[in-house]
Amino acid sequence: MVQYSLKANPLPELVRRIGAHGVGANVVSRGEWAAATKAGIPNTRISFEGIGKTDAELRLAVESALQGAPLLWLTVESADEFLALAEISAAVNPGEERLDVLLRLNPHVHPETRAEFQVGSGESKFGLAEAEVRELFLGQLAKPSALRIRGIHVHVGSQLTATGAWVEGGVRACRLLHELRSQSEDLDTIDFGGGFPGGEGPPPGDFERSLEEELAKSGLSLPPRAAVEPGRNLVASAGWLVTRVLHVRQRGQMPLVVVDASMSELIRPALYRARHQIRAVRPGSRPTPTLVGGAVCESTDSFGVHDLPALRRGDLLVIATTGAYGSSMFSGYNGRPRPAEVLLHPDQGLTVAREAEPFSP
Ligand code: LLP
Repeated sequence: MVQYSLKANPLPELVRRIGAHGVGANVVSRGEWAAATKAGIPNTRISFEGIGKTDAELRLAVESALQGAPLLWLTVESADEFLALAEISAAVNPGEERLDVLLRLNPHVHPETRAEFQVGSGESKFGLAEAEVRELFLGQLAKPSALRIRGIHVHVGSQLTATGAWVEGGVRACRLLHELRSQSEDLDTIDFGGGFPGGEGPPPGDFERSLEEELAKSGLSLPPRAAVEPGRNLVASAGWLVTRVLHVRQRGQMPLVVVDASMSELIRPALYRARHQIRAVRPGSRPTPTLVGGAVCESTDSFGVHDLPALRRGDLLVIATTGAYGSSMFSGYNGRPRPAEVLLHPDQGLTVAREAEPFSP
């Protein structure tokens, strides 16, 4: 099963197209759930996970089951959250209308990615330690409830540069599921998370192959239901941020251009020092290293140094691989309106998928 992580880019038209390929949706809030629904994805193909779910969100999940349209599953982050869910479930849905639940395992690995993305490391705020999963699961076994624990969720980090930690985390999840399955046949699912790079790095197929090889070495195999929830890999290279040069000046030996895009529209360089290639729309003089600064009053609002031809006010540049975590992390800082989002179709046609936010004085 492939569950597209809407957090990478929830643009309705995009989600609709991804959903039309039979891909489900992985959502982390009521807002993303509503976006997936609007894009035509039924609850039976929507998995809900997320580090901080409110009572209102848990209640919605319980009510959806009560109304005969249960989510594919809800992933629980902690024993505390499970308890809150169980209380809401007992109050709202005491009957047999099942809501499937996965327990999120923190696999305590060292993901091959930048520190900010290592959510599967033992110190991170995400998920339950192995012993906590065991305790929570065994503690619930005898209790009558409309919640049915179906399996384990594991996500080690984003933009992984190697398969090692993802596979290690996956093997740990499989081993634990295998052990607990002797207690309950209900346990048949593992969601192995996302994290597959977009562009450079091993393709998703390498992750799957390495996992199966490692499982075979330990006499284990994939569970009856296995899911992944990629975000970046599906959409990163599908997006370009188009920006205009506002002014140019010389900084030492290097030209410095300030553009009309900023950390409000693409926060990744400022937040993670992420590097996105930049190209000039019109080729010009021989490219030389050029510092590209954003339009917001913060020194970290910089897109870095790129080889670009001589530029002047009004020239257009494109910033690459902004399809993932570009628009979805828009902030509006400095009173900046949301820019338009335009779809480029295979036949080169253009349609507006989201109008630019109007300026209202
Ligand atoms: N599943 C879970 C539980 C996640 O937390 C995430 C991402 C994904 C799946 C999707 O990960 P992907 O396949 O896109 O790597 N905003 C950052 C990345 C942090 C993503 C947080 N969780 C960025 O701009 O790169």
